[in-house]
Amino acid sequence: MTLYVPLDSTALAMGADEVVLAIMTEAAARHLDVEVIRNGSWGMSWLEPLVEVVTDKGRMAYGNVTPEEVPGLFDAGFLTGGEHALGLGLTAEIEYLKSQDRLTFARCGLIEALSLEDYRAHGGFKGLEKALKMLPQAIVDQVTASGLRGRGGAAFPTGIKWNTVLGAEADQKYICCNADEGDSGTFADRILMEGDPYCLIEGMIIAGLAVGATEGYIYLRSEYPLCRDILHEALIEARDAGWLGADIRGSGKAFDIEVRMGAGSYVCGEETAMLNSLEGKRGMVRAKPPLPALEGLFGQPTVVNNVLSLASVPIIMDQGADFYKNYGMGRSRGTIAFQLAGNIARGGLVEKAFGLPLREMIDGYGGGTDSGRPIKAVQVGGPLGAYLAEGDLDLPLDYEAFSAAGAVLGHGGIVVFDDTVDMAAQAKFAFDFCVEESCGKCTPCRIGSVRGAELIEKIQAGQAVDDNLALVKDLCDVMDSGSLCAMGGMTPIPVLSAMDKWPADFRKDGVEK
Ligand code: NAI
Ligand code: SF4
Repeated sequence: MTLYVPLDSTALAMGADEVVLAIMTEAAARHLDVEVIRNGSWGMSWLEPLVEVVTDKGRMAYGNVTPEEVPGLFDAGFLTGGEHALGLGLTAEIEYLKSQDRLTFARCGLIEALSLEDYRAHGGFKGLEKALKMLPQAIVDQVTASGLRGRGGAAFPTGIKWNTVLGAEADQKYICCNADEGDSGTFADRILMEGDPYCLIEGMIIAGLAVGATEGYIYLRSEYPLCRDILHEALIEARDAGWLGADIRGSGKAFDIEVRMGAGSYVCGEETAMLNSLEGKRGMVRAKPPLPALEGLFGQPTVVNNVLSLASVPIIMDQGADFYKNYGMGRSRGTIAFQLAGNIARGGLVEKAFGLPLREMIDGYGGGTDSGRPIKAVQVGGPLGAYLAEGDLDLPLDYEAFSAAGAVLGHGGIVVFDDTVDMAAQAKFAFDFCVEESCGKCTPCRIGSVRGAELIEKIQAGQAVDDNLALVKDLCDVMDSGSLCAMGGMTPIPVLSAMDKWPADFRKDGVEK
């Protein structure tokens, strides 16, 4: 009898290893032959640890399994799909999953994370096999035609970036994967790397073939030690099977990948700070131009792409540009992985075509707030994203629609707050975050964030509120126009949106006007 129990960080944090031990112990006591496969997470974080059993009807799911529940599950005959209070029916029929558009995450949860055979059996390396027979320009053109835009947050067209690197003359070019997933409330890169590591590897090899790069680096945040171990193992397996190295599957084409660990700095997710860090320097932001596409790692032309941009490439190469482009709306083509976090009943990952209204994402998938209280604010796009109010929830999840509303989709993080949140405290948090994470290179960010936090403190204390609110607005203007990168340049977004939408939170009862 075969079971699946995720090895992903969320499942482990919720006790997945202890559940596996309890299952093996119980099976041994009952003289039952049980095999446990460690898959990645399906992204239904609120159901972890999610145990699946393979039955003749398909994979049956049991959610929130604890070691204490295991004997009862055996008694209920769960190994053959028996009924139990934790039973969720067939995994494939769970509405949260069934209604998604799983392209990039098609294999996450489905396959054994570290099995090359399982990866191959579910379409793995088909995109690469096609790319190996194509000219570099044809690969770039296919990615351009798919409409794929950078999933790290900036949404720059991936094909255009690749085309710049392809056209650059150099002896050595690089592919750098930005896996420094630092935005609060985001975990999609992690779920992909832990659950389907070969997909990222395949995407990076295709990128290398497309632009003429032979070396790739994955810059991984230090908070993801499990990803590091899984990627190391996957790279060894891929190299042994001839998918990486000097002669990829006898094609005469070369590409190899190394993993480099970050050291806990948010700004090292900014591409030029990341390149400095990769070069062994302090993670300070570089001025652009020159663009990394022309002078990137060690001064050479470099593709810097987020994990999910690269992991979207295999399916584009395999199924074609039109297949991918047919999902989405307007200039936002394909799918994006939303991550539901904060005060939400059903936190997790939802891959959907662009265009779904934010409200449907939060209520339909997320099930509303976990506290059951009304929603007051939603922050989309990480700590530098705007706070949206109830009246904004009908916005479609689309890059342009968000931009027109003064907001950002970013990396797809959605953090929900109920009506107990104090938005002045959230504005203060935005400045505090910038104080903590600023690289210090430019004054508006380094000093401005400190002054901003002080001003909000004064406002919270009721001191000269009107004057200090006006000063905050001026300061935000300076930070927006005078900062070198998004850290200082976007910190005003959450601050101003909080001030604009919840003015009462900045004027408590008895406060001086
Ligand atoms: P950007 O707009 O300056 O650049 C976007 C990308 O396009 C860069 O890689 C840039 O080098 C490239 N590019 C621009 N013009 C090009 C050209 N002509 N040819 C080739 N490449 C070109 O944005 P930036 O500063 O890289 O990213 C800011 C975004 O990062 C924010 O919108 C935010 O949402 C996101 N972000 C994501 C985080 C995460 O954890 N994923 C954390 C913090 C911010
Ligand atoms: Fe560094 Fe902040 Fe300037 Fe960015 S805006 S370069 S993080 S000081």
